[in-house]
Amino acid sequence: MPIRALVLDQQDRGVEHRVVEFPVDVLPEGDVRVAVEWSSLNYKDALILAGRGRLVRTYPHVPGIDLAGTVLESANPDFAPGDRVILTGWRVGETWWGGYAEEARVRSEWLVSCPPGLTLRDAMVFGTAGLTAALACLALDDAGITPHSGSILVTGATGGLGSIAVHLLSRLGYSVTAATGKPELERVLRGLGATHVIPRQEIEEAPIKPLLVERWAGVIDAVGGTTLSHAAAEVSYGGMVALCGNASGNEFAGNVLPFLLRGIGFTGVDSVMASLDSRRRAWGMLAEFADLQAVAAVVHEVGLEDVPGRARAMLEGSSSGRTIVRPREGPS
Ligand SMILES: NC(=O)c1ccc[n+]([C@@H]2O[C@H](COP(=O)([O-])OP(=O)(O)OC[C@H]3O[C@@H](n4cnc5c(N)ncnc54)[C@H](OP(=O)(O)O)[C@@H]3O)[C@@H](O)[C@H]2O)c1
Repeated sequence: MPIRALVLDQQDRGVEHRVVEFPVDVLPEGDVRVAVEWSSLNYKDALILAGRGRLVRTYPHVPGIDLAGTVLESANPDFAPGDRVILTGWRVGETWWGGYAEEARVRSEWLVSCPPGLTLRDAMVFGTAGLTAALACLALDDAGITPHSGSILVTGATGGLGSIAVHLLSRLGYSVTAATGKPELERVLRGLGATHVIPRQEIEEAPIKPLLVERWAGVIDAVGGTTLSHAAAEVSYGGMVALCGNASGNEFAGNVLPFLLRGIGFTGVDSVMASLDSRRRAWGMLAEFADLQAVAAVVHEVGLEDVPGRARAMLEGSSSGRTIVRPREGPS
């Protein structure tokens, strides 16, 4: 049976996309073949679909940095046909064909077993965004930031990473302040568990002084730029910033005083090359603590044809929540 996939091709005008069918033997080499039930849309996918960031070097290309599905064939005895598996990161969807196809052939060392209690759809409701949010929560916990330490700020709160971070932190017992450019979604953020919602404008300018009033025991930042500089100046004594994203840009201008006088810490969070151990810990945290009914309010389900439009909205900053992608046509 041919495989349906969203395929990118490089043309004079840039990257073009189309949904096509091709035979299974066109898939790249790999020791496990997976029937992809669900994929998802992340900021990096949106960049790849727009041909930005030089993330993809070889075309034609099947994007999709996330996938969840069932093993069809495996040359590795650790996986057997029928096993439910998750793949995020490892540069799949960038340097390797990814999840926007009915099947994928991948390396077994990239796979994580889908935790009991999560469906494959649930796994992609979280996807890279949720994994990163969970890794950031673990980083705060590892730094000794507990719910008693004070409030946690989440920037880019209505985005994929931000919305799962808001939810997971609240389920872990933290008081969460959600900073957003979409005040109309305040009710949605409160439904996810935000204790306070503040306008993005309150924290997006560079700080006027190196040290501002202490407000946050911790920060999960999806935005970077001057927002990150501002948030750092407001972190309380001994607090920690988990730096996850760069939705507003890569530049970061800081001052050493919050580090020297308040002993704050910065930790970078990378989901792409994260170890299998930390992935298992993070997926375990999502399976144990997240409430999928609460998260359902921010989930949008699309087919392959709808992915490019959703990706454009994401780059324009007009999307919110998590978009999950079903490569197969017909009912799920
Ligand atoms: N480190 C990792 O492993 C990792 C993994 C996943 C994602 N990321 C990064 O994390 C970021 C978020 O990813 P995502 O998939 O959650 O994307 P997303 O769904 O598009 O969320 C980004 C959110 O950031 C806010 N935002 C967008 N443009 C902004 C701007 N110019 N200034 C301030 N805020 C802005 C918006 O939220 P509001 O409207 O609510 O403010 C937006 O919804 C991206 O930079 C992505 O590359 C990193």
